[in-house]
Amino acid sequence: MSATTQSEEHWFAKARAGDIPVHLGIIMDGNGRWAQKQGLKRSEGHRAGVESIQRCLPAVIKLGIRHCTLFVFSTENWKRPREEIRFLFGLVVDYAQKHKAEFIERGVQVIPIGRWRELPAPVAQSVRSVARDTREGTQLKLYLAINYGGRQEILDAAAELAKRLASEQVGFENLTQEDFADCLYTKGVPDPDLIIRTSGEKRISNFLLWQGAYSELVFSDVLWPDFGPVDLYQAIAEYSSRSRRFGDVIG
Ligand code: IPE
Ligand code: IPE
Ligand code: MG
Repeated sequence: MSATTQSEEHWFAKARAGDIPVHLGIIMDGNGRWAQKQGLKRSEGHRAGVESIQRCLPAVIKLGIRHCTLFVFSTENWKRPREEIRFLFGLVVDYAQKHKAEFIERGVQVIPIGRWRELPAPVAQSVRSVARDTREGTQLKLYLAINYGGRQEILDAAAELAKRLASEQVGFENLTQEDFADCLYTKGVPDPDLIIRTSGEKRISNFLLWQGAYSELVFSDVLWPDFGPVDLYQAIAEYSSRSRRFGDVIG
């Protein structure tokens, strides 16, 4: 057994021994810096980032995590150079095509969230197609946050709620948080228990703002293209060492 495999087994066992998040969110950051560090173009970092997703997915499934949200493209990422944006969308299309069969085989249901319908037609189509063809997957729900922004989601939910109020589907008097959550893109999805952000940045950057109210946060210094199963298992072990109180007192 190689040293890597050995430590992988070790950290897997450690992670598995504790609480496993039902829903894991990942802010996959640091692709550009990873590329720059080795004198490559930022696009090569994004390419390596996709490989990192593919290395981590089996580990997510092996841990028994049932819901996983990946931050792929934010509503703020439109500020980037047009060429980089185009490259990212190309990667999304390739990724959806190339791995569809594997998702089906592994029981992964891909569910896009965000304003992905507004993306260029070929991108929206490939996302729609992978979602449709993987809809029977029961092992893992994989939410891809594409053209996603937490504030935009809250705004969209507010508009939807206003409609429901106007049509008296819900009433003003006894409005609940559940009524609002039911208007979010993540309707029916449990809130993320853990959000991991890579690359050393310690911010949320508009990711799952409503849903993350009580998420545990783990910040890793590892750049996303270098992030692998061991880093994931370590983050899960860190998560299970936390005491989640939700405002209550212990004991
Ligand atoms: C994350 O890596 C990928 C996306 C935001 C699409 P970055 O591209 O943000 O990498 P850095 O933060 O510039 O290193
Ligand atoms: C967050 O990363 C968005 C994604 C990972 C898709 P950014 O690199 O866009 O975030 P900031 O700009 O550092 O806050
Ligand atoms: Mg970044």
